[in-house]
Amino acid sequence: MMLKAVVFDLDGVITDTAHLHFLAWRTVAQEIGISIDETFNEELKGISRMDSLQRILRYGGKEGAFNEQQRLALAAKKNALYVRSLASLTQDSLLPGIREVLAGIRAANVKTGLASVSLNAPGILQALGIDHAFDFCADASRIARSKPDPEIFLAACAGLNVSPREAIGIEDAAAGIQAINAAGMLSVGIGPGLDEAGIQLHSTRELTWKCLTDFWASRTVLIRN
Ligand code: G6P
Ligand code: MG
Repeated sequence: MMLKAVVFDLDGVITDTAHLHFLAWRTVAQEIGISIDETFNEELKGISRMDSLQRILRYGGKEGAFNEQQRLALAAKKNALYVRSLASLTQDSLLPGIREVLAGIRAANVKTGLASVSLNAPGILQALGIDHAFDFCADASRIARSKPDPEIFLAACAGLNVSPREAIGIEDAAAGIQAINAAGMLSVGIGPGLDEAGIQLHSTRELTWKCLTDFWASRTVLIRN
């Protein structure tokens, strides 16, 4: 089977917005008396805005403390802070190796897709100057379930017109790796603690086109045996 598509997560894979999400949530959480740290933040990666708020409230023992209108206001406050911090993004904010690997995938006539549940994804791609580098971006506003549900990766494969079995997914979050695996795709994990990934890389520096094709070839051998 040929590799037909590579589907990327955005936050933490293409650019370091994962940290900006954390800073915005930390400010909002502090205002309601909940203290979160980077370790807890790992549980928010790949999780939609409202689901993230839910997890923060549960973590702080305040699940029932806010009605829906108040929860929407808290989420809106977080998003305003987050969007403000995005103003610092430029074409230099791509993580190392991303521009090169996108070019390598294109040159090989393999399709590129985006599977981010962030409603800010289109604006971020534009700020990074890579909105034309993707053949299809799954629309987060049409996704009902956050990762680890495979919905967003399946939507990306459907939009690219490829079978998940012909695609690789790339993620920096445990929930994201679970989503890729559940979609039936091959998973690449960026960063520590992603034991369920088909292959784990230390950073995007290692994410070369050669790395992806070697990984794909090794997987074919596994299937033949
Ligand atoms: C990504 C990030 C999450 C974030 C979610 C929604 O999945 O990993 O941390 O909560 O997107 O982002 P948004 O920009 O729509 O609030
Ligand atoms: Mg991510």
